[in-house]
Order: sequence, then structure tokens, then C-alpha cells
Amino acid sequence: MSRILLGVSGGIAAYKALELVRLATVAGHSVRVVQTPTSLRFVGAASFEALTGAPVLSSEFERDPSRGAFPGQRPPAHEPLSHLELVSNADLFLIAPASANTLAKLAHGLADNLLSSCALAATCPVLLAPAMNNHMYENEATQANLRILREHGVEIVEPGIGRLASKGEEGVGRLAEPERLLAACEAALGRGDSFRAAAPQSMEGLKVLVTAGGTREPIDSVRFIGNSSSGRMGFALAQAASDRGAEVTLVAANVALSAPAGVSLREVVTAAELEQACQEEFASCDVLLMSAAVADFTPASPTNGKIKKSDRARLELVLEPTADVLAGLASHRRNGQTLIGFAAEHGADAVAQAQGKLLAKRLDALIVNDISREDIGFDVDSNEVTIVTAAGEDPEIGQQHVPRASKREVAEAILDAVERLRARA
Ligand code: CTP
Repeated sequence: MSRILLGVSGGIAAYKALELVRLATVAGHSVRVVQTPTSLRFVGAASFEALTGAPVLSSEFERDPSRGAFPGQRPPAHEPLSHLELVSNADLFLIAPASANTLAKLAHGLADNLLSSCALAATCPVLLAPAMNNHMYENEATQANLRILREHGVEIVEPGIGRLASKGEEGVGRLAEPERLLAACEAALGRGDSFRAAAPQSMEGLKVLVTAGGTREPIDSVRFIGNSSSGRMGFALAQAASDRGAEVTLVAANVALSAPAGVSLREVVTAAELEQACQEEFASCDVLLMSAAVADFTPASPTNGKIKKSDRARLELVLEPTADVLAGLASHRRNGQTLIGFAAEHGADAVAQAQGKLLAKRLDALIVNDISREDIGFDVDSNEVTIVTAAGEDPEIGQQHVPRASKREVAEAILDAVERLRARA
């Protein structure tokens, strides 16, 4: 795992940097944070310190109790210069959010605070994620600064388009989402590339259908019944299968992640839409990885328009069952197809429950999460699963526990199991 130095400059988006740090540490990276003095007005150092387990610095003249060492690293015996030691220990320097002012300073080599001094001294890859008001971002001065930075070899993680912090404003300038920032860091660190480079082209010629995310069932035109699935496991599976040479279609329900490169994406909202998309894609696929969390019930008669609270003293929702998409597809399975389901189960008999579902739905394997564990599961970047196959306790191919690892690593283990199953079929 890598050492990421995060520079936080002043802007409301600084709060998103907290989530990025959380994701990066969960993924096993060691993180140190430097803040500009202005950023401290938006998010306090204590929050970053709690998440990284390391001191946060904001001035070149501040003593660093860790002497420039990252968590897990032994501090040097001497008292180093913080800005030089921090960057020389870092594998990557990400500045997120990068304000218009910080961008301008970095483009012109100014070093008037710890963050800008670090940037000037950095020999590791530097990534910069701008976040600001759309007019400031589109201003020719900012655009010229971005061009200069690109020419200097800085990678820019483009801001998103959408609602901005200032009331009523919409446009370009939203800080890229934390997941995207982490993915950009990992790609720059070569981790993504090394997975790709190491991937055998063992799924070449195969069509893989992956479902991801969680469906939303409308109550009225603004409200819905949803679930906590982030879609990260499915996206990791799609990426891993594509890296192994498969032709991948990803049916994604309400996922706020960018589609992996080279993967064909179909976006859906409800269980019925997901069912429709899967029915269209299923016949031609060789492998189905059904990781979406599909609603089991849907409001029987969703209201057209918005339900007003003044209209009624109490509101009762009548729900009716949705189709079991996976079971429906499995009932039409043809020879040569490999079908994998995913189940969130609770507690000690999770695997036993999974065995029952596996047989009932006519699957080749079921990937089981124990949702009684708080440290794994929905909205984190790591996972721990048990792969239960129809071969039961067969030691070579039966039940396999995949210890806690990044979702990408868990995806690799699942695809290994798929390939073993196909080799035996
Ligand atoms: N699934 C599906 N359609 C549904 C519900 C679930 O295709 N309406 C799929 C999921 O994508 C997953 C698998 O079935 O791959 C197992 O889902 P799970 O909800 O655990 O199974 P259920 O049979 O719905 O059992 P439970 O009563 O525990 O919810």
C-alpha cells in the first residue's frame, strides 16, 4: 500500500477530503495531510488527525511530532524540514480541493505556505483536484493556470458539473467525488495499472453481465424505497473482468461512480427496469455476476405527483413483491453459462442460508457477506466474503473464505472462482 500526501486548500469542498482520507485509509494507504491556513476555517485539523492517525501541519515553521514520517513509518533520528521530508516520503501528492488561489500559486511556483512549498519540492506524481465556483473555474486566468500545470506534468482530476455550494448556482466546479479521487490516485500510483498488466487475458472471448448498485422503488414522484448498496463491488467486478479480456456489460442501478473504461454501461432505476435490461442481455452472456441489491417489494400504486402531508393523518404503503430477477434468468439458463448471486446475510448461519439460496435459485455460486460485521460491506472500499459453490465442501472448489481485502482484490478472487467453475463444467 502507498503513502499519500494530501494537501487541502481553502474551500467548502474541504469536507469531501475527509471522506477521501477515510476511503484511502480503509483501502490500506498511509495518509498525511497538510492544510493551508484558509482551509482550517472550513475543516479543522483534528478531523484529519483522527482519520489519518498522524499530525496535520499547516505552516513551514511548525514542528512535526512525526518528523515527516507517515503512519507505519519509523521517524528519522534527526529533526528534518517538514516540507522536504513529507514529500520525499510520499509516493503521491494529491491536492484536493485545489482552490483557484492555490492553483495560481502552483502554476507560477510560489511557495508561501507549507502546501505550496511541498508542491514545489515534490518529485513524486502530483495530482490536483480543482474545486471552485463555475465562473472562477471558467475564468481564462484559471484555465491558463491549469494548462501550465498540465505542461508541468501535474495530473488534473477534473471537477464535476452540478449544483455548487453557493445558493442556486449550478455549473462546473464541484470537487470530484472521493471515490473518483481515490481511483485517480491509485491509477497514478500504478496499482490499477499493475492489476491490468498482471491480468491474464483468461476471459477473452467471454461475455460477462454484471449488475451493480441498489434499485429504487417510487412511492411518489420524489420519494422512493431504496437500499444502501454503493455499487462498488459490482464496479470492481466489471473492471476486473474487462481487464481479463472479457466483453463486459454493466447494468447499474443508482450508482454514483464512473463506469470502468471499456465497459458498456446500462443505467436503470427500478427493479422492473433492471429485470428488463437483464432479460435483454442475459441470453448472450457467458457469465452473470448479480451483485445488485434488488428490491424484493415495490409500492403497489405509486402516487403520480407528490404526496402532501396535509392530505392525510397517516400514510400506509401497500407493497407488492417484485420479480426475483436472478431466479427468473436462471430458469432459462443454457449450457455453458455461469451464474453467480450475491447475498447479504446476518450472523452465524450466513453460509448455511446461502447454501439454501444457491440451490433454490439454480446458481453456480453465491458470494456471501456477513452484514452483522460493521467493518465490511456496503459503503466501504474493502470487503470480506465467503464464496459458496454448488460443489459444497469440495476443498478445491467448494466453500472459500476471502479475507478482508480491497473490493478489487475480492473481485479478482471471485473471478478466479468463476474460471475454476467453468474449467470443471
Ligand atoms: N435478487 C434478484 N431479484 C430480487 C431479489 C434478489 O435478482 N428481487 C438477486 C440479488 O441480486 C442477489 C441474489 O438474488 O444476487 C440474492 O439476493 P437476496 O436478497 O439475498 O435473496 P432473496 O432471495 O431475495 O432472499 P431474502 O429473503 O434473504 O432477501
